[in-house]
Order: sequence, then structure tokens, then C-alpha cells
Amino acid sequence: MGEKKGKDTREGVLIRDFKKEDVDCVYKIIEENFPRPWIKEQILLENIFSYKVVLEKEGKVIGVLFGEIIYEEANILLIAVKKEFQGKGFGKLLLEHFIEICKNKNTKKIFLEVSTDNKKAVNLYKRYGFKDFSIRKKYYSDGSDAYLMVLEI
Ligand SMILES: CC(C)(COP(=O)(O)OP(=O)(O)OC[C@H]1O[C@@H](n2cnc3c(N)ncnc32)[C@H](O)[C@@H]1OP(=O)(O)O)[C@@H](O)C(=O)NCCC(=O)NCCS
Repeated sequence: MGEKKGKDTREGVLIRDFKKEDVDCVYKIIEENFPRPWIKEQILLENIFSYKVVLEKEGKVIGVLFGEIIYEEANILLIAVKKEFQGKGFGKLLLEHFIEICKNKNTKKIFLEVSTDNKKAVNLYKRYGFKDFSIRKKYYSDGSDAYLMVLEI
């Protein structure tokens, strides 16, 4: 994860590497957005393919994107924005950042899973050219289905 540096994307906003000190902030963001939040140990897990960044606004962590970049393929494992800051373009900044990093690493495809009921996220991904190529029935604990989506870059 060495070459990632903090990147100013717009005034007062910084996308930077996740640090273990961010675990509580990231946990809170996940907790308020997902019915079955990750445990803190999961948030801290990483391997050589991990790509983990947070979005800071005026020094506070308000967004998170965790992914993996495995040579020509990448996965988005988590993207979330603090509720009070949703709908203001921060999700787009995180996704654009990840797509840009993947392009620079010659990644050919980015994969993700998303609930078919999660209109906000599905719209966000479609806006950037992700296509759904399969459905996993009853994938989530609430019985909802998941789209498998891919962006070819
Ligand atoms: C999904 C999420 C990351 C998007 O981040 P965000 O900062 O709220 O979204 P943005 O303001 O950047 O908007 C990005 C796009 O999402 C879609 N979107 C955002 N809010 C929406 C809403 N209320 N209804 C429908 N689509 C919406 C739009 O396509 C929008 O693009 P546009 O404004 O150009 O039309 C964020 O809402 C979130 O954290 N949701 C809960 C966690 C989650 O579901 N994560 C994804 C799991 S796969």
C-alpha cells in the first residue's frame, strides 16, 4: 500500500490511507449504515492486496473505502459515508479515487456486490459505468438479493 499518499480532492477534503487509529471512526460509520456491522478486528484485517482509504473533511473521518487490488482485478469490499454527509458527493469522490488508482495500476476489472434494494449505491455504481452481470438470490441476512457488478476499465 506504499505509494498511496494523501490526495486533496476538494477544499477541506482529503483521501488518505486508513490507519489503525481510525478503527473507531470507521466502526461508527459502518455501524450506522449496515444492519450487521463488521467487528473491529475485521476492520483492521488486511493482506498484501488490501487498499484501504478514509475520506477526511476538516480533519474528521466521514467516509471509508476498503478494497483489494489483485493484479488485473480489483474488488470493492466496503464503501460508506457518514449519514449526515450523504448525498453531497463524497461517495463519488471515494469511488472516483479508487477507479483512478486501479487505472494507474493497470487493473482491468473492478467487482463489487450490492443489495438490489440499495438504490443509492446501485445508482452510484451505474453512474460510473458498473454493469450488473449476475444476481445472488437471498444473499443478505434480510433476504434481499445481491447484484454482482463489474466495471471494465
Ligand atoms: C452509497 C453511498 C456510499 C453513496 O455516497 P454518497 O456520498 O451518499 O453519494 P453521492 O452524494 O456521492 O452521490 C453519488 C450518486 O449516488 C446516487 N445517489 C445518491 N443519493 C441518492 C438518493 N437519495 N437516491 C438515489 N440515488 C442517490 C446518485 O447516482 C448520485 O449521483 P448524482 O448525484 O450525480 O446523481 C452512501 O450513500 C452510503 O454510505 N450508503 C450506506 C452504505 C452503503 O450502502 N454502501 C454501499 C454498499 S455496496
